[in-house]
Amino acid sequence: MGFQKVAEIKDFEENEKKLVEVDDKAILLTKVAGAYYAISNKCPHMGGSLFKGDLQDGVITCPRHGAKYDAKTGKGLKKPKILFFEFKLEDDRSYPVKIEDRNILIDIT
Ligand code: FES
Repeated sequence: MGFQKVAEIKDFEENEKKLVEVDDKAILLTKVAGAYYAISNKCPHMGGSLFKGDLQDGVITCPRHGAKYDAKTGKGLKKPKILFFEFKLEDDRSYPVKIEDRNILIDIT
């Protein structure tokens, strides 16, 4: 379906995150270093909501087991851990973002 409007740039502060929905998919939208990025809100490990995690210096931490992802690219940076056991780290999915007429658009196709 191509790019769809999900927010307006006036609604964003630096280092802010928002949970938006596009075609029933939950997307984590962030503003990092003046640019906007979109990755899947669903943690690749066990589906935790990344929106509920901390965003610091462009890195989002899953609140469930501590996996870390690059909010710009979705790249996995730190393995999830339960007690002493570390689990496989997978990258999160990222989506193209563009700005048009002060609106933020995402393409999830
Ligand atoms: S569900 Fe995200 S680290 Fe386990």
